[in-house]
Amino acid sequence: MSESTGSEGRRFPAPEQLAASANVGPDVYAQAEADRLAFWETAARRLTWSQEWDEVLDWNDPPFAKWFVGGKLNVAYNCLDRHVEAGHGDQVAYHWEGEPGDTRTITYAQLTEDVCRAANALLELGITAGDRVAVYMPMIPETIVAMLACARIGAVHMVVFGGFSADALASRITDAGAVLVITSDGGYRRGAPSALKPAVDDALTRTEGVRNVLVVKRTEQEVEWTEGRDLWWHDVVDRQSPQHTPEAFDAEHPLYIMYTSGTTAKPKGILHTSGGYLTQVAYTHWATFDLKPDSDVYWTAADVGWVTGHSYIVYGPLANRTTSVVYEGTPETPHRGRWFELIEKYRVSILYTAPTVIRTFMKWGEDIPAGFDLTSLRVLGSVGEPINPEAWLWYHRNIGGERCPIVDTWWQTETGAHMITPLPGVTSLKPGSAQTPFPGISAKVVDDEGNELGDDTTGLLVLTTPWPAMLRTIWGDDDRYVDTYWSRFGREVYFAGDGAKKDADGDIWLLGRVDDVMNVSGHRISTTEVESSLVAHPAVAEAAVVGASDPTTGQGIVAFVILRGSATDSGDDLVQQLRTHVSKDIGPIAKPRQIMVVQELPKTRSGKIMRRLLRDVAENRDLGDVTTLTDSSVMNLIKDKLPASS
Ligand code: WT7
Repeated sequence: MSESTGSEGRRFPAPEQLAASANVGPDVYAQAEADRLAFWETAARRLTWSQEWDEVLDWNDPPFAKWFVGGKLNVAYNCLDRHVEAGHGDQVAYHWEGEPGDTRTITYAQLTEDVCRAANALLELGITAGDRVAVYMPMIPETIVAMLACARIGAVHMVVFGGFSADALASRITDAGAVLVITSDGGYRRGAPSALKPAVDDALTRTEGVRNVLVVKRTEQEVEWTEGRDLWWHDVVDRQSPQHTPEAFDAEHPLYIMYTSGTTAKPKGILHTSGGYLTQVAYTHWATFDLKPDSDVYWTAADVGWVTGHSYIVYGPLANRTTSVVYEGTPETPHRGRWFELIEKYRVSILYTAPTVIRTFMKWGEDIPAGFDLTSLRVLGSVGEPINPEAWLWYHRNIGGERCPIVDTWWQTETGAHMITPLPGVTSLKPGSAQTPFPGISAKVVDDEGNELGDDTTGLLVLTTPWPAMLRTIWGDDDRYVDTYWSRFGREVYFAGDGAKKDADGDIWLLGRVDDVMNVSGHRISTTEVESSLVAHPAVAEAAVVGASDPTTGQGIVAFVILRGSATDSGDDLVQQLRTHVSKDIGPIAKPRQIMVVQELPKTRSGKIMRRLLRDVAENRDLGDVTTLTDSSVMNLIKDKLPASS
């Protein structure tokens, strides 16, 4: 811990050798500055287009952007066939490792054939361009194959993280209007098979419009079967032709929908399209990680069910002809050195993960990584939440051997790709800061009136020019798209929802969400979503949820509940019941760390719950001014509920 003080002002210059051979050098910023659209146009030329665009950006109707207007391409072709055609068919695309230790090595040629078979199967099932396909899967190769098969035929995939509940899956299927669900019997987690198919069966009792369920056999668990609706992947996909001619789609053709939590209980379906998205994910993946397709072994240790997996396990790496590692399970299975064992085994050279994982490794101790050969690593990445300097320095020393730059990448589901990050061959690193807008990106810190701030003054992060991988809308809700992101400072300024400050060097520090969105282990969860789940329980009359800072997960979910008159406070039992209820309702990631049963909640005179006070209680801070409370004795009641020791 003591080292954190030493880090203030401490800089880590780009390693000389890396800088000398880096994919991008310092002049990239000036180039992008001189002509932003020409810069992105050059980035787009790294892809193969079947028709060139007429216009780089159409921003005549903000915030509805069109990038590479008139251009046509096939995303899957760009990720697969073109590498095979260029003679790289034998290069490994994925070293896949199952949690039980089973492995699969998949080359670009094999992946191309697998995707073609799956694309042909989707066509046989009547899926056409524009149809939505839900994907609810563990971390197995078929998940990636399913996504690329959709992209290949122009269907829109909607991947739901396997840790989400049947309810969450059902509401997403309904909102997206999915006609097919691709799932598996289950996947391996923490040393045991964990079922997925039952959640799909359950979800489909509450949704309409799904014609078929395609089921991959992974764990061999027993599954219920609905004749006529359910089909085994191996029955339908394996017998297909390994050839399929890709069709070129418009640059603005929808590629996928990814749901993310907002400030209301209803998740937002973030829509990403094809040309601009692939341009920016491929370019950022190449520049931010200094990716060398011929020599690097790259590992994004995240789930493909989140945007990080979409952009930096699937689309960016494949578009760049990367050899990647994909791991199915959890870091502690069967032992706490599993990740390091994988780095040693596959000679991983670039590792991309989240601060919450680093802090977990810190807790487990530096002896564990010290027991493995990690000398293959040359660049490290961080994503999901601000990385505190202690974790940064620990990562740098104990995993990076003090030789690997750490790129702290700020971005969002909505931005699709990296937006603020150092560049490993250019930036002199400052632990804890994401530092610099990516070339071609304009980010500012502003006050409530939109005036730009500097000198360490805390304000709001905004993006002031459109970018290629930006979301195009919220699925089915253009108004909400405008209201949520593009109304606070006018229709041409994107409001990110993050607090930030710019220091005297002009480096940006991200300071967490400014809205009612929590960040738990790098996952976004809405306070309102958890509150509505709690009040849906018969015992609960009212609930208020806050994110309290947590040493490992960043934030932990703390709920305050008022019980219904009829419910008796059955203490621990009921609290456990409520925690399980939320976990079942939304998913285990939303399970409150702590639930406090209280008589009243602190409210302003206008009836708004004062979350700031609740957060102070949850974090055991001294309470500030409570005079605006309707009844300040409420706080005493709440404080009485706190465990004396914590
Ligand atoms: C929110 C977006 C981007 C993929 C993973 C999360 C926070 C993300 C950083 C970072 C500080 C970060 C922000 C952002 N965040 N990366 N490097 N430094 N904060 O995607 O679920 O859409 O969440 O995660 O608060 O708004 P997401």
